[in-house]
Amino acid sequence: MIEIHVVRRDNSHLYTEELEQYFRARYQIYVCERGWMDLDRPDGREIDQFDTPEASHLLALDNGRVVGGHRFNPSIGPTLLNEVFPQLSLLPLARSPDVYETTRLWVAKEQRGRYAHPSVESLLLAGTMEFALALKLRHIRVIFETWWLSRFQSIGWKLHPLGVPQDINGLNCVAVLKDVSEAIWMETCIKRSVAGPVLIWNGTARPSYRLPELLPAVA
Ligand code: COA
Repeated sequence: MIEIHVVRRDNSHLYTEELEQYFRARYQIYVCERGWMDLDRPDGREIDQFDTPEASHLLALDNGRVVGGHRFNPSIGPTLLNEVFPQLSLLPLARSPDVYETTRLWVAKEQRGRYAHPSVESLLLAGTMEFALALKLRHIRVIFETWWLSRFQSIGWKLHPLGVPQDINGLNCVAVLKDVSEAIWMETCIKRSVAGPVLIWNGTARPSYRLPELLPAVA
């Protein structure tokens, strides 16, 4: 069974082995598979300047094996858009406690394209909106390849492009603000057969939040 764990500064000591797997898996995905050679490192881990103590990670675990992930960075700190690609936004970039940036959404190859179970990607997407609601975020900010636009829209996400798409190392990329709302979380769950909240807050303070019961709508 797939579980989505929240890993942050205060509980990372409980996930030493999983974080090691996570950074090695990211190397396999981003350097070996996607060929993003700027991320290459001799130690076989994909770790960059945004894997700071302030970063939060959603780890998809299948009986202790890391099979997916997603990273959150507060917009008040260093982020990919703030530091590396600010030119992708035509507007001044908000640095606000209720806006986080996400990067490194990935699923292990053997777990991709499965929608019935629900898929690891579906659990990560629902978990992403749940995490944003738990933190009372207003927006999630992201740089992604433009093929994601219709994919997110198809599960009800409200997207606000911050600029026009630009070529980054041969990839057509756009910066986008995504709204955060309970209604979007519900639509994501319903479209992707996720039965309710998925996040496991093991050893880290769970913010007080309560999301609606979904089982009848999903079933
Ligand atoms: N370019 C264009 N489309 C892509 C793509 C890419 N690089 N990667 C995935 N897609 C499309 C697939 O073609 C597929 O389309 P379809 O539904 O019309 O068949 C769809 O996205 C689903 O992708 P799939 O890989 O089958 O499975 P998934 O939904 O379980 O996982 C990802 C999607 C993106 C999480 C997974 O493909 C992945 O981990 N990719 C590598 C990491 C990555 O590139 N992440 C995004 C940048 S951070």
